[in-house]
Amino acid sequence: MPRVLLLFARTSYRAEAFLEAARRLGVDVTVGSNHRQALADFAPGATLTLGFRDVARSSATIVRFAADYPLAAIVAAGDDFTPLAAAASEALELTHHPSQAVRCARNKALMRERLSEAGFSSPWFRTTRLDEEPAAVASKIKFPCVLKPLALSASRGVIRVDTPEQFVRAWQRIRGILEQDDVVRRIGRLASELLIEAYLPGREVALEGIVSAGELRTLAVLDKPDLMDGPFFEETILVTPSRFPEQVQEDIVSLVSRCAAHLGLSDGPIHAELRVDADRISLLEIAPRSIGGRCSRILRFEPGGSLEELILRHSLGMPHDDFLREPGAAGVMMLPIPAAGVLREVVGLEAALEVPGIEGLEITIPLGHTVVPLPEGKRYLGFLFARAETPDHVENALRAAHARIEVRIEEA
Ligand SMILES: Nc1ncnc2c1ncn2[C@@H]1O[C@H](COP(=O)(O)OP(=O)(O)OP(=O)(O)O)[C@@H](O)[C@H]1O
Ligand SMILES: [Mg+2]
Repeated sequence: MPRVLLLFARTSYRAEAFLEAARRLGVDVTVGSNHRQALADFAPGATLTLGFRDVARSSATIVRFAADYPLAAIVAAGDDFTPLAAAASEALELTHHPSQAVRCARNKALMRERLSEAGFSSPWFRTTRLDEEPAAVASKIKFPCVLKPLALSASRGVIRVDTPEQFVRAWQRIRGILEQDDVVRRIGRLASELLIEAYLPGREVALEGIVSAGELRTLAVLDKPDLMDGPFFEETILVTPSRFPEQVQEDIVSLVSRCAAHLGLSDGPIHAELRVDADRISLLEIAPRSIGGRCSRILRFEPGGSLEELILRHSLGMPHDDFLREPGAAGVMMLPIPAAGVLREVVGLEAALEVPGIEGLEITIPLGHTVVPLPEGKRYLGFLFARAETPDHVENALRAAHARIEVRIEEA
């Protein structure tokens, strides 16, 4: 029986979906995680405690482990463990995006540099350090623009500004976020780097795919129907199939495929985000991982299988090309956190579930916990899932259900 090493961060939303997929495929599983206690009950060979920051050390641990328990694939469930999965896969000659490509795709500034050097159309951008004088930097750039700290993800600290005054305020706010984040402070230099780039107007779309031996296979193009024009960029609704004209979707696929190839992302899942403005398509980013949070739940494939199953199949060299997304439309809404404070009550959940088309609702922050909205926050309140005949029905169902949910947050 082949064995797969699944890497989960302590806070992963995806562990269950990957474990279930592995069970369906009948493969042996080792869970690698930075969370020791959660793994205490497993059998020998079934767990490995690993850190994701010291990649060389953890990779050596995996190589030693593989001498006793040969590994057929290493799959990271989320972002944090992707560099380790790439490094250890390289050492053991397993199927994975190369480390170099992963490094490049995870660094928003490096990715912009690589793609613009190669002639891909790109917003203007520059990198700077937060110990510079913001007013001086603001005097040299154009507006509107977007500030992005390189050390953060999931839209944290990503702020649109339209004037030099807003620029200075956003800069200070980002500095505050980074100073409070212990994890970021420990990573040193990257912690104070900031990417500034032109604000790209337009509608946002995401592309979910698997690259196999350099060939992109698009699994879904997802629309984000809410206008995301800042100053903060909360993700809300994702709906597939896309309602963009076929030609635009073909252009999206072609752009992502060429960018992924140029970055060297050759074997593994990718999640790309783009903006479409009239007929201009701009890449926001390509991440060397699959869609985050619990969103993958909306993607189901025939003959029977989840996105996680397809990812495992690809990494294990098992057939996956025949799997097609099941017919019909599906969508998810990441429930935003409306205010900072302590989460006291979420009402209307049953009423929301009664909306036709709604097939699930998960509140992922326990009552009594502190909640923080963007740009400082890093979690969503929960996820609402819908499935219906058309993307319009799905979007309407998500909006109607959301309107029935009331969140009570007590000021801290
Ligand atoms: N140049 C831009 N123009 C307009 N909107 C932008 C721009 N850059 C980022 N955004 C908005 O901010 C969101 C987050 O930015 P981005 O995807 O670059 O970083 P991130 O989500 O923090 O990174 P990751 O997805 O790797 O976690 C985007 O989805 C988009 O809505
Ligand atoms: Mg993003």
